[in-house]
Amino acid sequence: MYWLSIDRSQKVPLIRQVYEQMRLRILSGELRQGEKLPSTRELAQNLRVSRNVILEAYDQLLAEGYMNSLRGSGSYVAQGAYLKQFEMEPLAPAKPVNIAKSEAKDIIDFRNGIPALDMFPRKKWGQLFQNICTNAPSSVFGYHAAQGRMELRQVLAHYLIRSRGVRCDPNQVIITTGAIQGICIASQLLLSENEVVVTEDPMASSIRNIFIKTGAAHYPVPVDEQGIQVSRIPVDKKPRLIYITPAHQYPLGATLTVQRRVELVQIARDTGCYIVEDNYDNEFRFEGTAVSSLQGLEPERVIYIGTFSKILSPALRIGYMVVPPLLIKPSRVIKDLLDHHSPSLNQLVLARFIEEGHFERHIFKMKKIYRKRQECLIESLNAHFPQRCTVKGYSTGLHIVAEFDDVVFTDLVAADLVKAGVRIYPAEMYAVNKGCHRNKIILGYGNVNEEEIKEGIIRIASVI
Ligand SMILES: Cc1ncc(COP(=O)(O)O)c(C=O)c1O
Repeated sequence: MYWLSIDRSQKVPLIRQVYEQMRLRILSGELRQGEKLPSTRELAQNLRVSRNVILEAYDQLLAEGYMNSLRGSGSYVAQGAYLKQFEMEPLAPAKPVNIAKSEAKDIIDFRNGIPALDMFPRKKWGQLFQNICTNAPSSVFGYHAAQGRMELRQVLAHYLIRSRGVRCDPNQVIITTGAIQGICIASQLLLSENEVVVTEDPMASSIRNIFIKTGAAHYPVPVDEQGIQVSRIPVDKKPRLIYITPAHQYPLGATLTVQRRVELVQIARDTGCYIVEDNYDNEFRFEGTAVSSLQGLEPERVIYIGTFSKILSPALRIGYMVVPPLLIKPSRVIKDLLDHHSPSLNQLVLARFIEEGHFERHIFKMKKIYRKRQECLIESLNAHFPQRCTVKGYSTGLHIVAEFDDVVFTDLVAADLVKAGVRIYPAEMYAVNKGCHRNKIILGYGNVNEEEIKEGIIRIASVI
């Protein structure tokens, strides 16, 4: 038995090392069925470990059926534990988790939808988390209702009524792991192969994929400066769900006009379809106050979706949906099937964060920072591309659209820009029907500071 090796520098316990090596040798046939195994005493001496280590490893192998033990005669490899073509790849040692304190940015990345990651309110969040973790009753650490913690649903309902004109009570709020899960739940609830879904075009491809996966027929409707062109919605196809981003069209940035909102609500009333209103970044509105929700116009037919990914951090994975009363129960059932419920401790921390006023203070602070970044981005574009570039979609959110008179943003151009140290996102990649947005790029400014913005635009100018 000289082929077993013990490595004391590893963090893997000795029992585990012996057990794992013998198990693999039995599975691979290296130790043949019926073969007698060394006695525990002999193996312990050989490996210079205590006999208890070998006894425990043998017990485990015995319990799992890899070996038999015959009283007075010793231990043998069990029948039927050999697995042909079982490969005995040694496991690479796990790398220690090492979270770097700072990350060098070789590429200036104008990815949209990412907030300023270095501005997350770490201290306050950490304090609240510690407080809740220390003082919450032990029941908090158990399983909970699929819909989410009432503490969060209550403060959220209150906030939504006040800030967005969403008409709801806490029972209609379902806490999700991000807006994307809310959209998944709505599509599972309403769509199947025989249904029709209408969306904006262009749109986020991850969301488009959610709808396509249900097998429903997808009708993309073009958007213009006033949002989705409601008159082009194929009402005759009897859509079951219409997905829109009315406060800040994703990605082109238009705000849906009130006339179109009214038309849309009328379609929902007439056809009985549901509207999914994705309000992913309305908090950062730079012109006027936040736009009131479409849900406020027709709470029976609108599913309102929101997220904390843009205001706080995508890493939290907390979002929510406000569903009409008829959909509360079936939405809960789907959420329960997906993951039982979203993490409770984070929900409680967030509830406290909102309740104590930190949330609105954070929005206020971030809005000032994002406004400056946006101004810097627009000024840089104007300085480097005078009369060549028009900026659109800047009323709200964390990205703008830059439309060029004389540039087509092909994959080749995007690749050249990466070589020059800057990453941009062509609007065309969000288009369902291709060809209309080839001269536009989406520039996110949430997670790039003013220095980086200026340098990024210089790099873009050096290529185009
Ligand atoms: C249109 C749109 N809605 C919502 C989200 C937010 O998703 P989540 O809350 O799951 O992070 C995204 C992601 O960037 C998005 O592009």
